[in-house]
Amino acid sequence: MDIRELVEPEDADLDAWHTLVSAAHLHDLPGDPAPDSTQTIGRIFGGGARRLWAVPYREGFGAVASVWLPGDPAVRAAEVDVHVLPELRRRGLGTRLLRLAAEAARANGRSAALAQALAGTPAVPFLERHGFRCLLITRSLVLRPAETDVSAHAALNPEGYRLIRWTGTVPDHLAVQFALAKSAMADHDEGDSAWTADVVRDTADHVAKRGDDLYTVAALHGPRIVGFTEVVVPGDVPVRAFQYDTAVVPGHRGRRIGLWVKAAMLEWLADERPEVVEIETDNAGDNAHMLAVNEALGYRPLREFREYLAQAADLP
Ligand SMILES: CC(C)(COP(=O)(O)OP(=O)(O)OC[C@H]1O[C@@H](n2cnc3c(N)ncnc32)[C@H](O)[C@@H]1OP(=O)(O)O)[C@@H](O)C(=O)NCCC(=O)NCCS
Repeated sequence: MDIRELVEPEDADLDAWHTLVSAAHLHDLPGDPAPDSTQTIGRIFGGGARRLWAVPYREGFGAVASVWLPGDPAVRAAEVDVHVLPELRRRGLGTRLLRLAAEAARANGRSAALAQALAGTPAVPFLERHGFRCLLITRSLVLRPAETDVSAHAALNPEGYRLIRWTGTVPDHLAVQFALAKSAMADHDEGDSAWTADVVRDTADHVAKRGDDLYTVAALHGPRIVGFTEVVVPGDVPVRAFQYDTAVVPGHRGRRIGLWVKAAMLEWLADERPEVVEIETDNAGDNAHMLAVNEALGYRPLREFREYLAQAADLP
């Protein structure tokens, strides 16, 4: 089968690319919502240099591959992505495409390449066969509010703390406090954080411009925000909402504040956004504490993302 490079992809190419990625996803993870076309296209055509290849097949594509070449070749790895229609797999097409992506990465001066796979799909043996090693595992979990009762957790009310909540951008009088609480996510020193009141506002702005709704519940101790949780309800498909950041400031951990704010969020959403059927969250595989909170709330494992790295010299 012929492989052609898409130098200036047209709308029909983007449609064919998305159709193929969706078909592969549905086949590998039956029942899981396929990525929507903005996600597929954003992933492939976001910022930075890229090269794209496709195998024409029937009315569309039988296989596609992309290599993203971000930033400085001396420090950043290339990112490769290969998709083959289920009926055309195990004939070496994936390997041929990976070889083109690897050659492009090497020619661009990259010494390493990254790729992502979902556990339990053929991408895992494919990548491991070709010199990739797993660097990081991230588990995503899903909660169906209708199937869980969080009222006992929402009523925890630890002494000395109270809850507040807002939609969209943080109220002005709390913006600096909120930026400090956000910094707690990385256990940064207060002076060392990338989170400032302006960054917090810009982030909320960005969510609003996408047409999505941002909900925040925070725990206050006196005037200080000591814990918070954020959920985003997408404007286009509000059925599945996404957990964003949750953090508790170091001096206030161990008092079930994380569980409390998350349970209060679930009760709020159930009232305010009853159309939300599922909430999805990601936990890095080693974040045992947050996993325990999520399990107590009724989150169940959904899928496992595996991040892979290969030395460019080891690739086909
Ligand atoms: C991963 C994927 C691209 C592989 O495409 P492919 O055309 O079937 O790959 P190849 O035929 O070149 O396979 C090369 C080798 O990978 C390994 N491999 C691929 N699929 C495998 C599977 N289902 N089970 C076990 N090993 C597998 C084998 O060693 C295979 O060699 P072999 O057929 O001689 O045994 C394809 O399954 C796919 O599109 N998956 C969904 C997209 C995806 O997750 N991409 C992310 C990875 S970048």
